Formats: sequence, structure tokens, C-alpha cells
Amino acid sequence: MNPLAAQGFRCPVCGRGLELCPGRLACSRGHSFDLAREGYANLLPVQKKHARQPGDSPLMVEARRRFLEGGNYALFAQALADLAADLARPGQPFRVMDAGCGEGYYDRALLPALVQKTGDARLIGFDISKEAVRLAARAQKEQAAFAVASCFAAPVRDGWADLAVNVFAPFAREEYLRTLRPGGWLIYAVPGPDHLFGLKEVLYDTPYRNPCRQVEYPGFVQQADLPVSGQITLRGPQIPDLFAMTPYYWKTPRQGAQKLQEREELITPIQFRFLVYQKKT
Ligand SMILES: C[S@@+](CC[C@H](N)C(=O)[O-])C[C@H]1O[C@@H](n2cnc3c(N)ncnc32)[C@H](O)[C@@H]1O
Ligand SMILES: [Zn+2]
Repeated sequence: MNPLAAQGFRCPVCGRGLELCPGRLACSRGHSFDLAREGYANLLPVQKKHARQPGDSPLMVEARRRFLEGGNYALFAQALADLAADLARPGQPFRVMDAGCGEGYYDRALLPALVQKTGDARLIGFDISKEAVRLAARAQKEQAAFAVASCFAAPVRDGWADLAVNVFAPFAREEYLRTLRPGGWLIYAVPGPDHLFGLKEVLYDTPYRNPCRQVEYPGFVQQADLPVSGQITLRGPQIPDLFAMTPYYWKTPRQGAQKLQEREELITPIQFRFLVYQKKT
């Protein structure tokens, strides 16, 4: 776990700051959280754990890791890293919180870009899925700080973050407002209208495009809405990997899933919208 990034953690029990000690994080009231072998901490209080295995299952996490490592969303990682780097200033420390970080794919693009820009970038990533956090932490053990935690009880100190990132994860406005400094940024990535339309055409008789909503969030001013689009061609096991990391996996009728299984190739548009908000000062 990166000691500078870890300074941003707060105790999930009492809310005081956590200190990184050998092998654990601890607060001044004696609450202590052991680090796992991969260097992450479990900061999800037992009473907040509503399922035995909350968040994405190991199967979904591993499918996402394989799919992303195949480079299929590289254009989104690059766009996010460029966007974040534009918000940072050379020579000024920059602190990022990735809420619902999954297996850390975007963090592996964000952090090097921000270190290059500022010389001092710190990243905390957390997710409610332990398997996702395990993979994220293993890949950036010394560089960043990861924890198992919920977006709705972020394990991060008030006003710590310059930037909060949410890529396709549950939205927690109040926690972003609490953890961001005044004037801090929120980048919220949501699916664009055409995202995965080629996949939906196979799964559904009448596929719909994603709605293009404009949402105002009290406490924030929207500064940009940047669409990033591409097209991918998937073959073999990459097709079920994509399916397993989408919400369609759970709600597609068997007939649609069967049709997808029979495909040897899938061509689909991909499209993210990066919504950029700034916390009011
Ligand atoms: C679609 S995935 C996106 C993961 C990552 N941001 C990415 O794009 O690769 C959604 C993630 O949100 C996590 N998640 C779901 N509910 C959550 C919660 N209440 N708090 C934190 N993470 C949550 C899931 O475990 C999953 O990793
Ligand atoms: Zn405490």
C-alpha cells in the first residue's frame, strides 16, 4: 500500500483518520484493519455487508479483467487519463478517489498520467467486491492504496480528493461532496446511446439505445459532457467475457443468450460519455 495515498483513508467505525502501520491501518481510537497479502485493507464494516459476497462476483471480475486487458476499452482509459491530467497542475499534488474501481483497469492508466503531469499523484481506489480489490491492489501494490468499501460510506477523509472518478459504478453524490475539496472535480463515466448496441441486437428482438439524460446534481456544476466512441470486433471467449461484465448477463432471456453463444464474431459500437462536474466552492 502506498503510504502517501493511505493518508487519505478514514476509519469506517469512528471516522477519524487512519495511519498506515506495519501490516495494518489503525486510528487513534484503536480500531485496526489488517492489510491482506496484496496490500489492501478491508474497510467495509460487517453491519454494512448485506451479502456474503457483495458487488461483482469473482466470475464477473475475472471476465472484466480478461476483456479489459485485451485492450478493448483502451480508448476509454486513454481518454480518462488525458481528461484527469488536464485537471491537474504541474508541481501540485493531485489526489484521486476511484469509487467502485473494479479490478483497477482505469487506475493503471490514471495514476501514471497524473504522476507524469504533477510529479506527486496519489490514488485511493475502493470497491465492494473483494475479488476486484484483490486484483487491483496486486497490480499497483506500491503505487496506490486500495480498500474493500462501499461507495455509500467512502473510507476517505473529508475534503481529501481533488478528483473523484466513477466509471459505471453506483452514484453516491453525498459522499463525493464530502470527500472532495471545494472546487474539486468529479468525472462520471456513463454508457453513451450506442454503447454495445451490436451486443444488444443479438440478445434482444427490439434493442434500445441508452437514454442520453442530462442530470443536475445539487452541489455540483456540470462543466463538460464528452462522448468517446469506437467499434470493437470480438472473437471466441472475448464474447462471453463481455457478456458476463454487463448487466444484460442477469436479465437476458435464455433465447438471446443462446444466440450469442452461437456467434464466432461480434462487432459492436462502444461509447462512453464522460460527464465532468465541479464541486461548488
Ligand atoms: C460495472 S463495474 C465497473 C468497475 C470499474 N469501474 C470498471 O469500469 O472497470 C461496477 C463495480 O461497482 C462495484 N459496486 C457495486 N456496488 C457497489 C457499492 N455499493 N460500493 C462500491 N462498489 C460497488 C462492483 O463490485 C463493480 O466492481
Ligand atoms: Zn476508528
